[in-house]
Amino acid sequence: MASSVVFRCCLIVITNLFMAFDFAHAQPTRAFFVFGDSLADNGNNHLLFTTLRADFPPYGIDYPTHKPTGRFSNGLNIPDIISEQLGLEQTLPYLSPLLLGEKLLVGANFASAGVGILNDTGIQFLQILHIHKQLKLFEQYQRRLRAHIGAEEAKKLVNKALVLIIIGGNDFVNNYYWAPFSARSRQFSLPDYVTYVISEFKNILKVILLLS
Ligand SMILES: *[C@@H]1O[C@H](CO)[C@@H](O)[C@H](O)[C@H]1NC(C)=O
Repeated sequence: MASSVVFRCCLIVITNLFMAFDFAHAQPTRAFFVFGDSLADNGNNHLLFTTLRADFPPYGIDYPTHKPTGRFSNGLNIPDIISEQLGLEQTLPYLSPLLLGEKLLVGANFASAGVGILNDTGIQFLQILHIHKQLKLFEQYQRRLRAHIGAEEAKKLVNKALVLIIIGGNDFVNNYYWAPFSARSRQFSLPDYVTYVISEFKNILKVILLLS
């Protein structure tokens, strides 16, 4: 029962894709923005002071370079596969020093392993990019983009972009069920916790809509 609740709460939202998106005629220039946790992180934690990292084997054994990349995967992860299917260049982790100039037009991946919808999810992992921090960095990204291509073009690029959010699993695994008598499990029954997490997720979606 618990696992089905956890499953339902691993919220995967692909905005725009719902509208019968035509994969075959995807514009190669469409920007892609990724937010979320380890299912989406493609190297941000790699560049942070955290114990939660994927920079050692067997991570990456099936990646084209056969080396760990910071992805929590043996090979490509979900954002990579979406980029590939849409004929887009892979997004860089937002913290990558290579995310400069023309690379900004591809979009960016702000995801950070360990984070959840709630601010207290993942605190045990030290310096990770909590979702509100990811949104702040998205604002910073847009300032950098405006400086590069001007306000009008930047707005167009962000408005047309594809957004992927994968988040919610850690609010259960690394918060509610983290310890037998975790603070959250003493505070909420499971159904009430699900309702609370979803209400906070709605607030996050509102901010993303506001920013894009
Ligand atoms: C979580 O943190 C953000 C930014 O630090 C804050 O704006 C937000 O209100 C917090 N959410 C809750 C439920 O406390």
